[in-house]
Amino acid sequence: MQPTDVLVVGSGGREHALVLALLNSPKVGAVHCLPGNAGTAEIATNHVLEDTSHQATVNLASELGAGLVVVGPEAPLCDGLADACASAGLPCFGPVAALARLEGSKLHAKLTMQEAGVPTAEYVLLDANSDIESALDAYASSPWVVKRDVLAGGKGVVVTTDRSEARAFIDTSIETDGCVLLEAFLPGEEASMLVVMDGQACVPLPPSQDHKRAFDGDEGPNTGGMGAYCPAPVVNDVVHERIVSRIIEPMHRYLAAQPVPYRGVLFIGLMIDEHGDPYVVEFNVRFGDPECQVTLPLVTSDVFDLLHGAATDGLDPAGVTVSDRFALTVVLASEGYPAAPIKGRPIEGMAEVMANGVYGDAWLSLAGVGRDGQAWLATGGRVLSSTAVANDVASARQRAYEQLERLSLQGGHHRSDIAHRALDR
Ligand code: AMP
Ligand code: GLY
Repeated sequence: MQPTDVLVVGSGGREHALVLALLNSPKVGAVHCLPGNAGTAEIATNHVLEDTSHQATVNLASELGAGLVVVGPEAPLCDGLADACASAGLPCFGPVAALARLEGSKLHAKLTMQEAGVPTAEYVLLDANSDIESALDAYASSPWVVKRDVLAGGKGVVVTTDRSEARAFIDTSIETDGCVLLEAFLPGEEASMLVVMDGQACVPLPPSQDHKRAFDGDEGPNTGGMGAYCPAPVVNDVVHERIVSRIIEPMHRYLAAQPVPYRGVLFIGLMIDEHGDPYVVEFNVRFGDPECQVTLPLVTSDVFDLLHGAATDGLDPAGVTVSDRFALTVVLASEGYPAAPIKGRPIEGMAEVMANGVYGDAWLSLAGVGRDGQAWLATGGRVLSSTAVANDVASARQRAYEQLERLSLQGGHHRSDIAHRALDR
């Protein structure tokens, strides 16, 4: 069979990880990225389009002869890129807009979970006519959790014990969006499950755990994610079985029965309570970043088959195998991230570390990195992540940190406690 060329849409560390995994497949020919980043430029062909319409993306894929489009981020999915690919007969990994609303609208996600009978936090929908003080009273026994009903790039949720902060976020959200969700606080430990699915089948990949706060000990502001490891032991066999039977199976039944089935990966953000009972905190309609960086390297079967299978309703769960090893990634962020990252500073040591190649013991996924001639510059908040795979989580952690120590970025910061929950158990 002729190798297939693939177009990967997006520009983050997740997309670099996707390109690395695809290039590991003998079934993949050339990999193209739109727009990609400095990491993908090393191993694939980056493209820039002035025309940002979906039609332009579809046209590019056609001109390149791509047999698969893999969409990394949520925004183009919520905006209908998969629908445009479907109209052109182009296999697309990523759901159509009607199903991407699971991430685009928290209210839609809640209503879907009610319909599918999936456990999640109780909530109340507030608008300009609501008695907001009574609602705050009703949820006053634990921190208030306020969620905007729009795609907010990770800034749509406030969890706080400060009543005036909760009230202010409710008021501004109602003003801009018309409504807002106030939901019950779920105590427990978080985990992420990435479930690849199509109209016929679904495949849960090994569970992982992100570290969303900026600083060690889960202190500081929320970020896009400062590091992750996989598999996460909080999802033991009993918990895993509950997640499959109570959440994954009902969601897949629901999504496979839609007029156009879900073809892509469903990211399930979970809270596992003290009894080992799982609740859904959020759905995303894409791979997590940095969860993707630690999950795909553990897939020992062909990743192209996995993605192309899901895009074409040909997913074969029996053909998907995963390693029994451990992966860990730690994110290097620019000074000031997440509030106001300082950009443009050189990263020293890149050439040597990049020369190590990939899928050995350790490698990098680049995100906010640019080139100026031979120099490598930090151009974003999350700059890159250092990933390692080993036989146990402590060794993976040691290797990922050793690799990171070979780089230097003025003011750069990273967490030093990735996987502390696994190692402290
Ligand atoms: P979300 O964007 O919905 O994932 O929310 C961002 C973060 O807020 C989550 O990763 C959790 O750490 C926290 N969070 C969201 N909802 C809840 C909840 N009901 N109870 C406790 N923490 C929550
Ligand atoms: N790491 C969390 C996310 O990708 O949303």
